[in-house]
Amino acid sequence: MAQLPTGSLPSQVHVDRSARRAAGVVKWTKYDAGVMPAWVAEHDLGQPPAVHERLRELVDAGAYGYHDAAEPMVEAFCRWASRRHGWSPEAGLVRPTTNVVQGVWASVQAFTRPDQKIVLSDPVYYPFQDLGPTTGREVARWNLVHDDAGWHYDLDALQALLEGDPSIGLLLLCHPQNPTGRVLDADQLTRILELALEHDVIIVSDEIHYDLVHPGAEHVPALAVPGASTCTIAVTSGIKTFAIGGLRCAVAVFGDERLRDRFDSIPEHLLTVPNRFGCEASIAAWDTGDAWVDDLRATLDANRHRLVDRLHAELPEAGIHLPDSTFLAWLDLTAFGPGDRPSMWLRAQTGVACESGPKFGAGGEGHVRLNFGTTPEVLDEIVDRLVQGLGRG
Ligand SMILES: Cc1ncc(COP(=O)(O)O)c(C=O)c1O
Repeated sequence: MAQLPTGSLPSQVHVDRSARRAAGVVKWTKYDAGVMPAWVAEHDLGQPPAVHERLRELVDAGAYGYHDAAEPMVEAFCRWASRRHGWSPEAGLVRPTTNVVQGVWASVQAFTRPDQKIVLSDPVYYPFQDLGPTTGREVARWNLVHDDAGWHYDLDALQALLEGDPSIGLLLLCHPQNPTGRVLDADQLTRILELALEHDVIIVSDEIHYDLVHPGAEHVPALAVPGASTCTIAVTSGIKTFAIGGLRCAVAVFGDERLRDRFDSIPEHLLTVPNRFGCEASIAAWDTGDAWVDDLRATLDANRHRLVDRLHAELPEAGIHLPDSTFLAWLDLTAFGPGDRPSMWLRAQTGVACESGPKFGAGGEGHVRLNFGTTPEVLDEIVDRLVQGLGRG
């Protein structure tokens, strides 16, 4: 592992809570100081030092004007994707966007007609619940199913859905999946792709959590599946890995020129270009961040085990499966009767703020999404509070 300055690795971070609050980090300011924040999907583990150095240089130079950093950002993304994911997108088939969600919405506009349906798989990252109403497209559901082993995709159900409804035009994959952490493997992706090709459906694969897949699972980029190029768009970003969501910078990656050109039919000024600070931070992170991300992944892997082991041992009524990816855990509180606003109920019982399951759609009843992307010390305090507030012993 390359040497990084002492204290700069995720495993060495100390969270200074009042400094975070003073800096206006919304994860730490939304609720009062007595509440432990485990809600928004942002980790507390910092950024590679080169990100700070580059942004400081720009601030010192007063470099706030128009810029041409989007192109080098795209090139840095391609280098990262091929180094970290064995996937070699062509820079000419990548478009910068301000954020991932913008790429999703623009894809729905570019690749579907108003009379076509889009497929969503609940429970899913809750802003996607607005996709149908705000684009005027009807939504067809291919929901995840739950059993003792966790949350799964049912490929036969997708086949039946596509065979039964020729008006479906687009399938939105959340890959890796937020909130369950489920990761699709190469065989499952291949089957999804075959079905998409057979039924003339475009796949939009949101891969924003792609760097954060834990041992035992592997991220297979949808566009790396043989045959995907004619029907697949991937949207991703460095913002989750490097906790730089406020800087706004993402990419949309197209399998071929035809798809790219259809996306380009959206007026340029509706999409605009990403922020310079977002581009420069992403370049610095992607070009220097390998050892840092390895350490982040090890920290998150240890955290997921710590969380799940402690809850199984100390709060067995809470349902939790070891997530394959991300720093998000999908916690089933049904045994406690949390009502229809589970996060509000949980906050009142324990002083821990999570995201409310019902916002994520079907399967969210009685659940909350808990963010474990923090230091072991903060995580322990979160678990202590859950155990003290909900434990019946
Ligand atoms: C699956 C998924 N997609 C998109 C986003 C948001 O990305 P952006 O802010 O770039 O739109 C998130 C943030 O949590 C996410 O989890």
